[in-house]
Amino acid sequence: MSKNLYIKTFGCQMNERDSEIIEQLLAQDGYVPTDSAVGADVVLINTCSIREKAEQKVFSLLGQLREEKTSNPNLLIGVTGCVAQQEGEHIRERMPHVDLIVGTQQIYQLPEMLDRLTQRVSVREIATDLEANFAIPPFQKLLINAPPSPAPHGFRRFVTIMQGCNNYCSYCVVPGTRGREISRPMADIVEEVEILASQGVKEITLLGQNVNSYGMTNKVAETEVGFAQLLRQVAAIKGLRRLRFTTSHPKDLSEPLMRCFAEIDILCPHFHLPVQSGSNAVLERMHRKYTVESYLDKVNRLRQLRPDIALATDIIVGFPGETEADFQATLDLLRTVRFHGSFSFKYSDRPHTRSADFADKIPEEVKSRRLQEYQTLQDDISLERNSESIGRKVEVMVESGDHTAYRGRTPINQVVHFAAEGQSFAPGDLARVTIDQAGKHSLKGRLSSDT
Ligand code: SAH
Ligand code: SF4
Ligand code: F3S
Repeated sequence: MSKNLYIKTFGCQMNERDSEIIEQLLAQDGYVPTDSAVGADVVLINTCSIREKAEQKVFSLLGQLREEKTSNPNLLIGVTGCVAQQEGEHIRERMPHVDLIVGTQQIYQLPEMLDRLTQRVSVREIATDLEANFAIPPFQKLLINAPPSPAPHGFRRFVTIMQGCNNYCSYCVVPGTRGREISRPMADIVEEVEILASQGVKEITLLGQNVNSYGMTNKVAETEVGFAQLLRQVAAIKGLRRLRFTTSHPKDLSEPLMRCFAEIDILCPHFHLPVQSGSNAVLERMHRKYTVESYLDKVNRLRQLRPDIALATDIIVGFPGETEADFQATLDLLRTVRFHGSFSFKYSDRPHTRSADFADKIPEEVKSRRLQEYQTLQDDISLERNSESIGRKVEVMVESGDHTAYRGRTPINQVVHFAAEGQSFAPGDLARVTIDQAGKHSLKGRLSSDT
C-alpha cells in the first residue's frame, strides 16, 4: 500500500540533493511524495543551521506540526539535516512530538528506522553518528537504478562528490554538522553521471562544501586525483551540455582548475567563489587563509583565461570586530570585482563556533544598515552586468514554458524570458535568444532568427 511522504527542505543544495536521495530510498518502500503535510503519513524536515534564522524556521514549522499530529496521531514526524546533527536528542526537549531524528550521515538508515516506527517495534528513533563514508553502504550505487525522483527540472541534476568540510572557518557550523571532509571515488561519480546522461539529463552540478579540495584530503579509489581531473572526466561524458560546480574555497583554487575554464567547453563560465569580506583583518579572524590581494590575483587570472567568466560570491557583514573601514573595504572589493551577484548575510552567532566567543559583536542595527548598503550596491552592479547582455545572442537552456512564452537560463545562470513565436521547446532544449531588456534578476529577449 502506498504511503504519503512530505519532505520540507531548508538550506543548501547539499540538502536538496539529500532530500532527493531520501525520496528515492523511500520510494522503494512504497512512499509517494506529496506537497503538503496535511494527510501525509510521514513528514520529514530536512534542516539547515547555518544562521540563527534558518534554525528558528525549523522550530516554528515543527511547532505547527504539533497540531497536525493531534488530528492525525499516526503521522510520523522526523527531523534530518544539520539541525538534527547539531541538536540530536535535544530537539525533543522542545518538540516532544518528534518521532525520528536522523543526522547528516545516517539518511541511509531511514527505511529501517521508519519500518520500526510503523511496525511499532519502537516509538522513537535517533541516529546521529558522524561517520562520513562513501563506501559503506555504496549508497549512490544503490540509488542509481532507482527511478529518478520527480524533480522539477529533470534535465538538470546535482551530483554529490564529497561530504563534510575541514576548513573550520571561525563562524561556521558545517564542519560540525557534516563532519570531516571525504571525497567520493571518481569511478562512482563518473558512473552516476553516465547513468543520468543516458536518462536525458543535460546539466550536471557537482556538489561539495569545498570542491576545489576534491581528492586532496583522503585517497580516492586508491589513487590521488584532483578536482580538475574529475571535471575533465565528467565533461567527456556523452550527452551533457552544461557542467557546473559549487562551492569553492579561494585558498584551494589551483592553476590547473582555473585552466579548466579555458579548456572545457561545456564548463559554464560562471564561478561562485565566496570571499566573505574585503578586509584582511576580518579574513584572518574568519580563518579563511587567503588575503584580498591573493583573491584578486585569482580573479584576474580567471578573467585572463576566460574573459566572459561571471563571478559570484558570498559576503558576511558585521563579523565581530568589523570596523566601518573594514566594511568599506568590502564595498571597495565589490566595486573592483563587480560580481554579477552575491549572497550576502548578516553575521549570526552559531553554537560551537569560535567566533561566537569573539569580543566586539556588532549591534543588530549596524549589521542591518551594512547589509542594506552592500545589497543596494550589488543590485546596481547586477543591473549593469545584466545590461551588458543587451543586443547579444545568448544560448538559453529552457526550463519551463508553454506555446506562448518560455523561461530558461544562460550559461552564466541569468534567468531569461522569451516569447515562443510559434516554436516549441522541451525542458533541457537549447534556444538562441537575442537579449532586448535587462533587470536586476532577469533578462528578456526574442528568438534569434538562426535558432
Ligand atoms: N562551503 C561554502 C559555503 C557554506 S555556507 C563556502 O565555504 O563557501 C554558505 C554561506 O553562509 C557562507 O559562504 C557564508 O557566507 C554564510 N555563513 C556561514 N556561516 C554564517 C554565519 N555564522 N553567519 C552569517 N553567515 C554565515
Ligand atoms: Fe563553512 Fe568555511 Fe567549510 Fe565553507 S569552507 S563550509 S564556510 S567551514
Ligand atoms: Fe545549511 Fe547544513 Fe547546508 S547548515 S547550508 S544545510 S550544510
